[in-house]
Amino acid sequence: SSIVQGIKELVDGGLHAVPPLYVRPPDERPESSSLLSNVQPLPQYQIPIVDLTALDSTGAARVQVMQEIGRACEDWGFFQVVNHGVELAVIQQLQEAAFKFFDQPAQERMRFYTQSIGEPIMYRTSFNPAMENVREWRDSLGFNRIPGVCDGFQDAPELCKKEVQQYMKGVDAIAGKVFKAIFESLGVEKYLENEVQAGTIPRVRMSINYYPPCPEPSLTLGVSAHSDVGTLTVLHPDVVPGLEIKHEGTWIPVIPTDPSALVINVADQIEIWTNGKYKSIEHRVVTNTNKPRMSIACFYGPSDDTVVAPLPTLVDESHPPCYKPTKFEDYLKNFFSNKLLANRGTLDLA
Ligand code: SIN
Ligand code: FE2
Repeated sequence: SSIVQGIKELVDGGLHAVPPLYVRPPDERPESSSLLSNVQPLPQYQIPIVDLTALDSTGAARVQVMQEIGRACEDWGFFQVVNHGVELAVIQQLQEAAFKFFDQPAQERMRFYTQSIGEPIMYRTSFNPAMENVREWRDSLGFNRIPGVCDGFQDAPELCKKEVQQYMKGVDAIAGKVFKAIFESLGVEKYLENEVQAGTIPRVRMSINYYPPCPEPSLTLGVSAHSDVGTLTVLHPDVVPGLEIKHEGTWIPVIPTDPSALVINVADQIEIWTNGKYKSIEHRVVTNTNKPRMSIACFYGPSDDTVVAPLPTLVDESHPPCYKPTKFEDYLKNFFSNKLLANRGTLDLA
């Protein structure tokens, strides 16, 4: 059982130092400036905030939101959304239910323990303890919806089933329309009609991440630096800071404006489709000494057999294709083996 012991359990048991297994090599540790991440960054270092109200309308107001989304994807790869339609109560009900899951005795949690990323329901600690030299300071509960393969949301544990389904429904609606707006902002949505079906992107993985307080945040990370592998990620970041993105060479904290704000980021497959115009930005999570943090990430992705390549209208003589066509299934396989070799340990498989 020592191999799978969760970090929450260790911290709850009383911990005054970061155990050696969680100490990052010096070049991966957060700079001390990062650990002041509850200081509000200067306005020029804040990701754009997009009000989604008009995305459901027609005409000029909608076009303006669509263009704002496009600009945010090009300049930052990350943006906050407000007035997105998911009520704060729905978010809080999920947080409370998830907390009940993490607070259960080990034998209840361990029923869902797995080191695979493709199971319908996944309780895990770090990313893959059996493969990692250094562990991440988080435990997580995850659900996969892979069309034709599985739907973990249908079979979620009773103590959080209603809550995960309710939240997922709300986020699905946001993701479907933001995905369309992203490609509309480039005038290429007709190439991607199959990716959104009845307003929803079919494939998603939800990861509810629990980061307990850490006695020595300068030595470890909640999630090490990575970019997301799928198409689009919708994150509830919590009001407790922790997420940082690499913008123009500097790690900057993402500070949500209010408890219901969501953060959306471009992931690798959109970078490929847009031939690099919209970038999948590196990000990581730092820990803090006094407050637990719970984030909820929904990673969308294409189907396994989708061959992702730069879209023809975004390629010309002055913009040659920067990426070779790759089947998503193969992209994932490469990603797994590279990450594990590099000991990064975080796979955001959508
Ligand atoms: C977060 O917890 O804020 C992000 C987690 C991730 O990038 O996987
Ligand atoms: Fe991520």
